[in-house]
Amino acid sequence: MRKTIPNKFKEVNFIIYTEEILEEALNLGRKYLHEGAVADYIPELAKVEANKVAISTIEDGKLTSVGDSKIKFSIQSIVKVILYALAMKNYKVAELKKYVGVRPSAKPFNSVIELELSEKRIPVNPFINAGAIIIVAILHNVYREKTFDVILKKASEFLGEEVDYSREIAESEKESSFTNRTLIYLMLAKGILPSDTKVEEVLDTYFKACSILVNTENLAHMSYVISNDGIDLDGKEIITAKEAKVLRSLMATCGTYDYSGDFAIRVGLPAKSGVGGGIVTASKNKNGLAVYAPRLDKHGNSYSGVRMLEFLSQKLDLSIY
Ligand code: DON
Repeated sequence: MRKTIPNKFKEVNFIIYTEEILEEALNLGRKYLHEGAVADYIPELAKVEANKVAISTIEDGKLTSVGDSKIKFSIQSIVKVILYALAMKNYKVAELKKYVGVRPSAKPFNSVIELELSEKRIPVNPFINAGAIIIVAILHNVYREKTFDVILKKASEFLGEEVDYSREIAESEKESSFTNRTLIYLMLAKGILPSDTKVEEVLDTYFKACSILVNTENLAHMSYVISNDGIDLDGKEIITAKEAKVLRSLMATCGTYDYSGDFAIRVGLPAKSGVGGGIVTASKNKNGLAVYAPRLDKHGNSYSGVRMLEFLSQKLDLSIY
């Protein structure tokens, strides 16, 4: 993070993500490692080593990491940011809003009742499961059998290196996908999804996308891209500045689900969590910040991850509010 003191003649910049501060945050995260529980509704996720913890930052183009920053874990719901970014490459937000809203959710990320009760019966936002599944269906209409390849390519751009997905996790998601199947069939029943939707293909793509393997260094790069108005470390445009702004807005209001209000008070940064244990943040400061610890709170957000971000936010005055 950079703080700028405006000066008549020059600007003075301070580096604030020192390794010392990151280590302090990591130690705090370690203290909470016994809290929460790993996601076990996807059996393969229950097998992860629960005592891992990591923080990665990018500041002034420099990557700094502490803890288990090379450990790969599944991206899970964080990919929903990338899915919506791809959807925006094809359709305006106003058009997408006919199928998925941009309103915060008041219920858990896989809630059936929220879909039942939502206005026009469309998913309230693209970061809950129903919303992301509909976005995948929309992408399938555009890219057909190439859809997952396109997603993987865009994900690699966001994540700063070529990434792949875990076949085991994708298969495990498929085998335990009762709630996601309920959501997609409900959307079919309500006519939100056309009756010729290729349910199995859409779900397969969604499960593979959630199973993309990342580490905190990848997520810090993603954080950097969204914070730097869509431009990556090499100066390449991954998304437009306008699209980055939409993603930051959705992350701030919907990124940690029904915990988003609490998260705003505790951390004060746009963010997206995943049940793999990662949290990617965004800011407007052209920096990257991401954390990992696999045990989750009851909302599906990394327990230690939220506390590490809260510590950094307080220590470094990162809150945008
Ligand atoms: O569909 C699911 O339930 C998972 N693949 C993704 C859920 C998730 O990551 C929610 N995030 N906190």
